[in-house]
Amino acid sequence: MSQGDDPDIAKPLLKWFHKHKRVLPWRATPRDPYRVWIAEIMLQQTQVATVIPYFEKWMQDFPTVAHLANASLDDVLKRWEGLGYYARARNAHKAAGVIHHELRDMLPNTTAGLMTLPGIGPYTAAAVASLAFDRDAAALDGNIKRVMTRLAGLKAPNTKLLQDLCTAALPSGKAGAFNEALMDLGATICTLKAPNCGKCPIRTQCKAYATGHPETYAGAKQRMARPRRGVVTLVLQSPSTRMLMIQRPARGLLGGLWQFPGVDAQSTDSSSGESLNRICAMVQAETSVPVLPDSLHYVGKITHAFTHFIQTRFVYVGSIVGDLPCAPEARWANEREIATIALTRSDSRILELLRTSLPSNRTMVE
Ligand code: ADE
Repeated sequence: MSQGDDPDIAKPLLKWFHKHKRVLPWRATPRDPYRVWIAEIMLQQTQVATVIPYFEKWMQDFPTVAHLANASLDDVLKRWEGLGYYARARNAHKAAGVIHHELRDMLPNTTAGLMTLPGIGPYTAAAVASLAFDRDAAALDGNIKRVMTRLAGLKAPNTKLLQDLCTAALPSGKAGAFNEALMDLGATICTLKAPNCGKCPIRTQCKAYATGHPETYAGAKQRMARPRRGVVTLVLQSPSTRMLMIQRPARGLLGGLWQFPGVDAQSTDSSSGESLNRICAMVQAETSVPVLPDSLHYVGKITHAFTHFIQTRFVYVGSIVGDLPCAPEARWANEREIATIALTRSDSRILELLRTSLPSNRTMVE
């Protein structure tokens, strides 16, 4: 397909969508722009099945943009806990403040207006403008790019060309349904590894289908091997059953989340004889709490895959003589308090490790 061919994919696609569309909680009519926006933010880099329970709980806690604007960032991060890419939550909270305080709780209803808000780039602006306000905007997410790449018979996606093809094919006034139809087609039929072309409503217009090997167009990419990093983590416990936690800087990876203190390991192998003296000194420098190497014992490791690296945390438990004064970014918290603050995924797993690795007749505090 080139732009000049102008195959009418909209008609068969919309007919198919009418019958086969996925029922999703953010699609309830009439569309609530706030729900559409939050769904689009959650769906960035995240599967629909993962998002659904988060979305539903979020809407119970923050049913309107005003609720979100008035919530604390800590509560918002807690609700996001486990979804990853936490800058999304921080930006949504910031944008809610702008919408509540400056826009009388109304989201901008154009692509350009939406893009003035924190965390909203061209894709999300086009998605919200089309899905919530029926603006004629093509929203190219990963699924849509794959469908259009195959339709056009391109060996590699070319975003500018795909954007032009989508815009040319968009039925005016029905952009929301058109975009969602392409998303659903990509998610359920025109899948990455095994497209089910027999069920595709636009296969007769599809150049990749015509070749007999559609999966070789826009297929799965080989993932680059990710570097491995090690971290030594200390779970420091006081006699009053509290553990020392530290909050990550507001910006950057896992920004604003709480975790057990630790330092980069010199190796990704726990048996490398890492110097506990060095680790204790570094943790003390960060938390202001003096840590004695002799009090530490190794309980196990947790491996977590980030997008660009794989991290293994070697976990040691140690005891501290009391709830000693700590740095402003750190705090002592018991298990109940820890359950109310936003932890990184691997710190939640460290808590699980502690529960399962300690004999049942021992509490988490020695
Ligand atoms: N992926 C991104 N946006 C989506 C939506 N609105 N529905 C389903 N999947 C999506």
